[in-house]
Amino acid sequence: MFHTFVLFCLCCWSLIGVFGDSVSVMEEDSVTLYNDDTEIRADEDLLWKYGAENSLIAKMKKKNQTFHTFNGTDGRFRDRLKLDDQTGSLTITNITTEHAGVYQLEIIGVKKSSKTFSVSVYARLPVPVISSNSSNCSSSSSSSNCSLVCSAVNVGHVTLSWYKGNSLLSSISVSDLSISLSLPLEVEYQDKNTYSCVLNNPISNQTQHLDITHLCHTCADSVSLIVLISAGSLLIVAALGIFWIYRKLRKTDREVETREEEITYAETTFYKRNSQKSKVEEEDHVDYTPVTIR
Ligand SMILES: *[C@@H]1O[C@H](CO)[C@@H](O)[C@H](O)[C@H]1NC(C)=O
Ligand SMILES: *[C@@H]1O[C@H](CO)[C@@H](O)[C@H](O)[C@H]1NC(C)=O
Ligand SMILES: *[C@@H]1O[C@H](CO)[C@@H](O)[C@H](O)[C@H]1NC(C)=O
Ligand SMILES: *[C@@H]1O[C@H](CO)[C@@H](O)[C@H](O)[C@H]1NC(C)=O
Ligand SMILES: *[C@@H]1O[C@H](CO)[C@@H](O)[C@H](O)[C@H]1NC(C)=O
Ligand SMILES: *[C@@H]1O[C@H](CO)[C@@H](O)[C@H](O)[C@H]1NC(C)=O
Ligand SMILES: *[C@@H]1O[C@H](CO)[C@@H](O)[C@H](O)[C@H]1NC(C)=O
Repeated sequence: MFHTFVLFCLCCWSLIGVFGDSVSVMEEDSVTLYNDDTEIRADEDLLWKYGAENSLIAKMKKKNQTFHTFNGTDGRFRDRLKLDDQTGSLTITNITTEHAGVYQLEIIGVKKSSKTFSVSVYARLPVPVISSNSSNCSSSSSSSNCSLVCSAVNVGHVTLSWYKGNSLLSSISVSDLSISLSLPLEVEYQDKNTYSCVLNNPISNQTQHLDITHLCHTCADSVSLIVLISAGSLLIVAALGIFWIYRKLRKTDREVETREEEITYAETTFYKRNSQKSKVEEEDHVDYTPVTIR
C-alpha cells in the first residue's frame, strides 16, 4: 500500500516535472502559454483552468469549432485572454500581479492529459535614487568621507545593491510587496572609482550611477563659498567707498580752486566777506566765477 502511494507520488512528480513550465513576465507585458501538442485531433477538447480552484478560463471544442474565453470567477481575466483557434495556445495580455499563479491545460480526447504553467509576474522597477545623507556640515567635516544613501520606494521581491565598478559592495533584499528600501554607502570625496546602485528582480534591473562631485559638497566647499560671497560684498563696499572718497576729493579740489580764484578775483574788495561765505554760496560761485575770469 505504502509502495503504491510512493509510486503514485513519483508519477505525479515526474508528470509535473515533465509537463510543468515556469514562466516569468513583467507587469503590463503579454505572455503566451503554449500548447506543445499542436496536432489537435478532431475529437479533442481543450480546457484552460486557473488557480487553486481550477476555474475555467478558456474552452475549445475542435469538432464543433467553438472557442470561448471567460472572465474568471472574479472577472480578473476580462478582456485579457486570447485563445489561438489553431494551436489552442492561450495569451494573457496586459498582465498584472493578480494574474500570477498556476495555469492548467487539460486535453480531453481518447485519453486525458494535462500540462501546468507556473506564472510569476514582476512589477516594473523604478530607477533607484541616490542622495547625500550628510544633512549638515558638522557631521561630515570630521572625516574626508561623504555619506550617501540609495533608495527605492514601493518595491517588492527585489534586491538593492551598491557596485564599485563591477564588484558588489553591499546589498539588501526584500520579499514583501511594496515597501521602501535604502542602502547606505560611504565614499571619500576624492574617490575616482565608478559607483552604481542597482535595483533588480529576477528578470530585470535598473541602474543609477553615482556622481560624487555633484552629490558630495564638502564643508570646505561651503566655507569657500561663504568666503567668496563675503569677499565679493567687501569689494563692492570698497568700490563704493572709493567712489565716494573720489567724489568728495574732487569736490574739495573744486572748492579749493574756486576759493583761490575768488581770492584773486576779489582780493581787494571782497576778501573778508568771501572768506566768511557758507559752503553753499561758494558752490554757487563754481558755476560762474571761472567764466567771469576767463
Ligand atoms: C456541438 O454543438 C451542438 C449544438 O451546437 C451540440 O448539440 C452538440 O452536442 C455539440 N457537440 C459536442 C461534441 O459538443
Ligand atoms: C465578461 O465580461 C464582459 C464585459 O467585459 C461581459 O460582456 C461578458 O458577459 C462577461 N462574460 C462572462 C462569461 O461573464
Ligand atoms: C492594463 O491594465 C491596467 C489595469 O490593470 C489598465 O489601467 C491599463 O489601461 C491597461 N493597459 C492596456 C494597454 O490595456
Ligand atoms: C544617515 O546617516 C546616519 C548616521 O550617519 C544614520 O544613522 C542614518 O540611518 C542614515 N540615514 C539613512 C537613510 O541611511
Ligand atoms: C547635524 O545633524 C545631526 C543629525 O544628522 C544633528 O544632530 C546636529 O544637531 C546637526 N548639526 C547642526 C549644526 O545642524
Ligand atoms: C571612509 O570611507 C572608507 C570607505 O570608502 C572607510 O574605509 C573609512 O572607514 C571611512 N572613514 C570614516 C571616518 O568613516
Ligand atoms: C541588468 O540587466 C542587463 C540586461 O538587461 C544585464 O546585462 C546586466 O548584467 C544586469 N545587471 C545586473 C547588475 O544584474
